Amino acid sequence: MARATYNFPAGFLWGSATAAHQVEGNNTNNDWWALEQEPGRIQDGDKSGKACDWWGGRWREDMDRAQDTWQNAHRFSVEWSRIQPEIDRWDESALDRYRAMLIGMRERNITPMITLHHFSSPIWLAEMGGWANEEIIPLFEAFTRRTVEALKAHCQLWVTINEPNVLMNGGYLEGVFPPAKKDFMTGLKALANMVRGHAAAYRAIHEIQPEAMVGVAHHWRGFKAANRGPLTAFVTKLHHKVFNDSFAYALKDGKFDALKLKLDIPEAIGTQDFAGLNYYSRDLVKFDLTRSADAFARRYYPEGADLSETGFLANDPEGFMEAIRWINQFDLPIYITENGCDDGKDDFRRRYLLQHLHAMWKMINHNIPIKGFFHWSLTDNFEWERGWSQKFGLWGLDPETQIRTRRKSVDMYADICRSNAITSEIVEKYAPEVYNKLYPV
Ligand code: BGC
Repeated sequence: MARATYNFPAGFLWGSATAAHQVEGNNTNNDWWALEQEPGRIQDGDKSGKACDWWGGRWREDMDRAQDTWQNAHRFSVEWSRIQPEIDRWDESALDRYRAMLIGMRERNITPMITLHHFSSPIWLAEMGGWANEEIIPLFEAFTRRTVEALKAHCQLWVTINEPNVLMNGGYLEGVFPPAKKDFMTGLKALANMVRGHAAAYRAIHEIQPEAMVGVAHHWRGFKAANRGPLTAFVTKLHHKVFNDSFAYALKDGKFDALKLKLDIPEAIGTQDFAGLNYYSRDLVKFDLTRSADAFARRYYPEGADLSETGFLANDPEGFMEAIRWINQFDLPIYITENGCDDGKDDFRRRYLLQHLHAMWKMINHNIPIKGFFHWSLTDNFEWERGWSQKFGLWGLDPETQIRTRRKSVDMYADICRSNAITSEIVEKYAPEVYNKLYPV
């Protein structure tokens, strides 16, 4: 049997990622909380409730967990509606809490990365039309300034916006995220405003903290044509163009091109110091006349795919390599800002994670400058419109009792973080079923 150690570069960041609304609890002043109160919006009528009770102080015990298991980084988000509860009111005590969290991470040798906007917006802002209203641009800039001023002593890595394309898709196409619309044109406007908001925030952060490293967490989804037909090729290309490329390319050349909306946004050129990549899975795409609401396309996983517990994603590490090649076109240092899977049984996760980390290792060995990896997520948390039904944590979590349960994946990830490597022993111990895939003879 072939044996080898796959080493990662010295100083590699190994962490997990979370988002305010998903972990803090009692975030009553944002658009997600409002949506949760509407019957039928969230699976099984779930509510974020106390979430992982980080606002109540349990971030401390969770950061102890991260530290004890060799993680040296953590990506989390600040909640705009706490920092600016009303358009003309700021809450310094919220910033104090975030400062305490940052200091707590530093004390545990955990390098923080802060996301300024991760899906949730204050209610006052949502009432103004949220991202679809261009007045959000100066407001997002002001919020960014206030936050960075307050926290810059403890953090240098900033993500302005998490997954603009997923926010657009969920909020304006599928209608499952706030503002729960099905209005493509308004969605595209919102996406373009995110480009502008990001550019304004980028400049503001650098004014306040010249040494800051600022990026976006781009979600790249794989789309593979299911057949050779020209119509299938066309809709597949369309998916790439609108979903994967439109936001990201605007930061490269200042041209926002999403079919029905084309704009010049020159101020966006060069507004990334690093490129963040969130990758989960890849779809087959097939032209289908009956699916007009989905751009005449059906998306599905290939037959026989290795699916996660709820069928939400397929284990597709080749897709991760494609995603990494895509993000590398920006010629920037790269952070994998999210990757993980739903698996309460903790059986699928170990092979999914190992195969993805191995794919990442291969890309690093093709000289692609990946600097860190953030696993989604540390503990189970509130999975948006899917409520508590999906379990993405290294630790399980019962939101009622707040009891955390250590999964085997924790020990595997800890072994990798500690040795800064994947070893044959780790694969043999935690996911022998993929040994031959990682060590082909
Ligand atoms: C989001 C996370 C989410 C994860 C899994 C990503 O698109 O950034 O907030 O929990 O997917 O659903």
